[in-house]
Amino acid sequence: MANVVIIGAQWGDEGKGKVVDIYTEHAQQVVRFQGGNNAGHTLVVGDETIVLHLIPSGILHPGKRCVIGNGVVLDPKIFLGEIEGLKKRGYLKDDRQLVLDGNLHIIMPWHKAVDLAREKDVSRKIGTTGRGIGPCYEDKIGRRGIRLSDLIKPQVFRRKVKEMLPEKNFLLEKFFGEPLLNEDQIVEEYSAYAMQIEKYLGCCSSSLNKAINAGENLLFEGAQGTLLDIDHGTYPYVTSSSTCSGGVCTGTGVAPKHINSVVGITKAYCTRVGEGPFPSELNDEMGERIRKAGNEFGSTTGRPRRCGWFDAVAIREAVRLNGLTGLAVTKLDVLNELDNIKICTAYSYQGQLLEEFPRDADILRECTPIYEEFDGWQSDICDARSMADLPDAAKAYLAKMEELAGCPAVLVSVGPRRDQTIQISNPFV
Ligand code: GDP
Ligand code: IMO
Ligand code: MG
Repeated sequence: MANVVIIGAQWGDEGKGKVVDIYTEHAQQVVRFQGGNNAGHTLVVGDETIVLHLIPSGILHPGKRCVIGNGVVLDPKIFLGEIEGLKKRGYLKDDRQLVLDGNLHIIMPWHKAVDLAREKDVSRKIGTTGRGIGPCYEDKIGRRGIRLSDLIKPQVFRRKVKEMLPEKNFLLEKFFGEPLLNEDQIVEEYSAYAMQIEKYLGCCSSSLNKAINAGENLLFEGAQGTLLDIDHGTYPYVTSSSTCSGGVCTGTGVAPKHINSVVGITKAYCTRVGEGPFPSELNDEMGERIRKAGNEFGSTTGRPRRCGWFDAVAIREAVRLNGLTGLAVTKLDVLNELDNIKICTAYSYQGQLLEEFPRDADILRECTPIYEEFDGWQSDICDARSMADLPDAAKAYLAKMEELAGCPAVLVSVGPRRDQTIQISNPFV
């Protein structure tokens, strides 16, 4: 029996969705523990591409239970739309496949309005997804949020909206110059959501711990990435939740002793969406080439992703912060055509050599990358199914990634489809 955590080891979009979809075979339950519909996890099955924002990436496997834990913030409209989309495609035939924890917080219209209004200030812009994530977590920590368990109680919900709205409208109108929100409209809209959502309500901590005691395997699906963590990321250019492995425990009510392995997903290069420092970023033709080859456009907002070389300094940070036991290296095929590939092995900061990731975004911004160069393989590796199928140059590149990270690769992905995968070792055994 093993419980495995999947974590984005960079700035998000590493291919977590694909890896979770593959690992679901070994687990009985797949659990989201943080974030909300700022996430966009892509699953490619045959000719079909499915992007999930809230529902765990195990949902395509009938009989596997998908749980949205207390640490998630949920936009009910997006959630219900996602269910509808899945059902139309023939998935989620049994509603019992999906469970929502009552303590998770609900994203309200004022959260989205405040998020978008704040982002209009170009000098302080974070480049958020505009989904209301930050303001919703602000209210959670400020002890004034609305939980799912409040949403489904009509009187409690109306009282909470009544209490919150004057403050939110004051901020929206007087500070941001935005239109006022209407109490009746909100209550009416959200009450309709409540009626459709109630059937998914459950207790995440209790049911997951029962499953653990019964010998089930759990798979925890991280959203965003390590360097977007609210505490450990490149603050303030981060998201508002604990994206690292520690977030699993607070976000689900499953204790640390039950976590057996933590797999960090990393691209064979690096991307970032939104603002913030990114030392190995390529603002040149090579960056454009990688963006094109990797189809690096956001799955949530469609924004072009910033592209750069693999950053070993950042990966070492992710290995330490998450206690990574294995790396899943994705998108190795994107580098197929390059004759020369670089890895950032250290930074130079004010003439000094830095081998450890600076915790201050202002310092990181001034860091310049120190690179080591590798020969490319200049051949198509999409059909490789074992390490032996890879060209020597690709094997050497992976070995260097592992050595610099101080962590072994457990999986290599050579294309978006399920079958385009090399499984080196199984984290569930
Ligand atoms: P997530 O947020 O970490 O789940 O990642 P996204 O879904 O936002 O972005 C990853 C993108 O890369 C998706 O379009 C995937 O279909 C695609 N992808 C995943 N693994 C591979 C791979 O090994 N090779 C290629 N070419 N694409 C991949
Ligand atoms: P997945 O799960 C990449 C980024 C945004 C912005 C910052 C804050 O698909 O990897 P937010 O809306 O969360 O307040 O935005 O975080 N961001 C992501 N970048 N992948 C994601 O999710 C992201 N979720 C948030 O671009 O820079
Ligand atoms: Mg994504």
